[in-house]
Amino acid sequence: MTVAADEPFSLIIFGASGDLTRRKLMPALWSLYAGRVLPEPFTIIATARTGMTDDEFRVRMRAAIGEFARIQPPSEAVWERFARALVYVAGDPTDAALYPRIERALKDAEAARAAGASRLFYCATPPSLYDDIIQNLGSSGLARPVGGFTRIIVEKPFGRDYASARALGRQLASAFHEEQIYRIDHYLGKETVQNILVFRFANGIFEPLWNRNHVAEVQVTVAESIGVETRGAYYEEAGALRDMMQNHLLQLLCLIAMEPPVTFDAGPVRDEKNKVMHAIRPIEPARVSESALRGQYGPGFAEGKPVPGYRQEKGVAPDSKTETYAALRLLVDNWRWAGVPFYLRTGKRLAKRVSEIAIRFHRTPHLIFHRSPTGVEANSLVIRIQPDEGMALTVAAKTPGPDLRLGPVRLDFRYGEVFGGEPPEAYERLLLDAIHGDATLYAPGDWVEKAWQLLGPVLDAWGEAAGPPLYPYEAGSWGPAEAEAFIARDSGAWRRP
Ligand SMILES: NC(=O)c1ccc[n+]([C@@H]2O[C@H](COP(=O)([O-])OP(=O)(O)OC[C@H]3O[C@@H](n4cnc5c(N)ncnc54)[C@H](OP(=O)(O)O)[C@@H]3O)[C@@H](O)[C@H]2O)c1
Repeated sequence: MTVAADEPFSLIIFGASGDLTRRKLMPALWSLYAGRVLPEPFTIIATARTGMTDDEFRVRMRAAIGEFARIQPPSEAVWERFARALVYVAGDPTDAALYPRIERALKDAEAARAAGASRLFYCATPPSLYDDIIQNLGSSGLARPVGGFTRIIVEKPFGRDYASARALGRQLASAFHEEQIYRIDHYLGKETVQNILVFRFANGIFEPLWNRNHVAEVQVTVAESIGVETRGAYYEEAGALRDMMQNHLLQLLCLIAMEPPVTFDAGPVRDEKNKVMHAIRPIEPARVSESALRGQYGPGFAEGKPVPGYRQEKGVAPDSKTETYAALRLLVDNWRWAGVPFYLRTGKRLAKRVSEIAIRFHRTPHLIFHRSPTGVEANSLVIRIQPDEGMALTVAAKTPGPDLRLGPVRLDFRYGEVFGGEPPEAYERLLLDAIHGDATLYAPGDWVEKAWQLLGPVLDAWGEAAGPPLYPYEAGSWGPAEAEAFIARDSGAWRRP
């Protein structure tokens, strides 16, 4: 990360009494400050309905940092300096009367530092409040720049289907210009995700292989071992397709499939990702089951302990049809990828917590080692996003001994081993980018809408009472057995990371 530029700013967090602020935003802001990359002076104006004084809010945030931050305060004096920048304004974001009070707090902060009036708003509330917040920011005049930048960060989900995403887009556009809007997908802030682009476009040796002539199949897996925990009611409304596939997995697909952007800047990177979205073959409403498969976890085991099924979780209907597992087969109809299947899967209560992209290459056209009893695996390149970030290339080697036996060998690179230390949290990078006005790692509105449009036929079919089957799977397994047949038609098999 770059060293702090002299850009005084104020961050205004809506929903500041909530989980995201406590677990992610404040620890990230603190770590940026402790790492001396947060531009100074700054003010963080936190707002939510819960009544609290500035000091009570600071005590809460101190505890949150103790629990969740990557870097701990070296001394109370350093913490105190940071804490002085925290201001709490209690109020209901749906009430127009709150906004003049926020403006007063902003003006006080700006007067005290006598430089610039750059403002970054952050919607960290349930999405049902976005409309009110955006509308109030617009009508109060707070959305307009006043001698510095004015930007807004919106948390996912950006709508729950194409129509609602468009409505949110229109609402945002009524108060802000597109270049003021930052739609956060924290996945894109992860170091390894950014490294996909470095790996692809800073190394000359892979690009010639990165196409249909050499790649047989791409698999993207984002697997969680946990269930819905305390978020059953939320998940009932979301499901795996909305919660993970529409954003994170499709973003990963775009990073793998995109053409080289002219430069690593927001415009060119977003353009190339949008082109991938345009090239993905639409899913035919009458043939959804050929492109999508869903499942739901039943009782099973996690870390050796028995765990309940999804329908027994708190906040979940006993006859729920919400999918906790989703798999897609997508085709990217362009010169580079024609005919290469992209398989995407995500789920809860799977065997392991792992996120990875696996690229399977074509086999050698002819195998001269026919006496080897073991055969040869096709080469594969696996990019691990979590845990244990890194990448591994699998090649064939002769195993030691008098016989000509071949076996797979992994050339493995682990971030932690090579670079040491903990990489910055995704929110650190993304917050700093928004402060610096770099939207490269944020999702543009047209991309988001295109993603919803692509998944529309699946959402519709899965929403029907007589829709495609919802396959059960045992908690702690790799998903429904039927998922194997789903992938086998391209003569592939799901990986067991
Ligand atoms: N939590 C995470 O790790 C995470 C991760 C990724 C994305 N997100 C997204 O980030 C956003 C915030 O998530 P969160 O988990 O922090 O949410 P949350 O804890 O449920 O809500 C944040 C705050 O919003 C306020 N609020 C809730 N309902 C309200 C209402 N009806 N009217 C006015 N204020 C209300 C509450 O504060 P008061 O009661 O004090 O007003 C609450 O503390 C969501 O859009 C979520 O999807 C969260």
